[in-house]
Amino acid sequence: MSESCGSDQARGVIKDISNLNIDDLVRISSFSPECVQSMHDHIHLEYKTWYAFKKLAADCSRSNIALHGFAMFFARAAIECLADAVYLEKYLVQRGGVVQPTDIPAPKARYTICWSDNPVEPLGPLRECLKMEREILEDTNRLCQVADKAHDYALQETIARRFLEKETKHVKNMGDMLQEVARVAKVPGHGLYHLDKELRVKLGKTPWSKSNKPHSVDHLLEHMASEMASASSI
Ligand SMILES: [Fe+2]
Ligand SMILES: [Fe+2]
Repeated sequence: MSESCGSDQARGVIKDISNLNIDDLVRISSFSPECVQSMHDHIHLEYKTWYAFKKLAADCSRSNIALHGFAMFFARAAIECLADAVYLEKYLVQRGGVVQPTDIPAPKARYTICWSDNPVEPLGPLRECLKMEREILEDTNRLCQVADKAHDYALQETIARRFLEKETKHVKNMGDMLQEVARVAKVPGHGLYHLDKELRVKLGKTPWSKSNKPHSVDHLLEHMASEMASASSI
């Protein structure tokens, strides 16, 4: 083969590749338009929920309310949503998709999200928070169903591994929060202050979140087994 013939061939290959849509080559057939749309929908939901939690964190930080433990709790929930949205965007790109930003509605447009200060009324917003966490879990489940229908096991596995267990836990933790606050709100006084203080000490983590983890039973069994072993060696 002559030198000029070889370089013509090389130029031809470069031209062919340059005209290709590489994203199309990265995207496998099971990653269907329905999978892509469902991912967009879930990313939008995470951003919308992030905005609502962020608003509640700001409300609880106001001097009229000054519930800084609750502010940390909501800030944590907001960061979780933001991290999930960014994770899914990165995953979408990894699969040959394109991120499409959407308008994020102001929290009041959909949810009556506001922690009122006169009087301080936590139950309304917390009930909305439980609805939001449920909506995220239900949408995560739907995303898994869409992936399953398309036989896209990579998407299904990613959603199941990263999201399903975590979002199930979030729903239960928020349900417990609603119940705890309903309990202390029955008698006006120190209840809310003490719950807020507990949240503050734990930097916004719910004090009961560990006991809601099914895996905690393994630690409990390990602990009991080692206690029994040390008792029998006495
Ligand atoms: Fe999330
Ligand atoms: Fe969540």
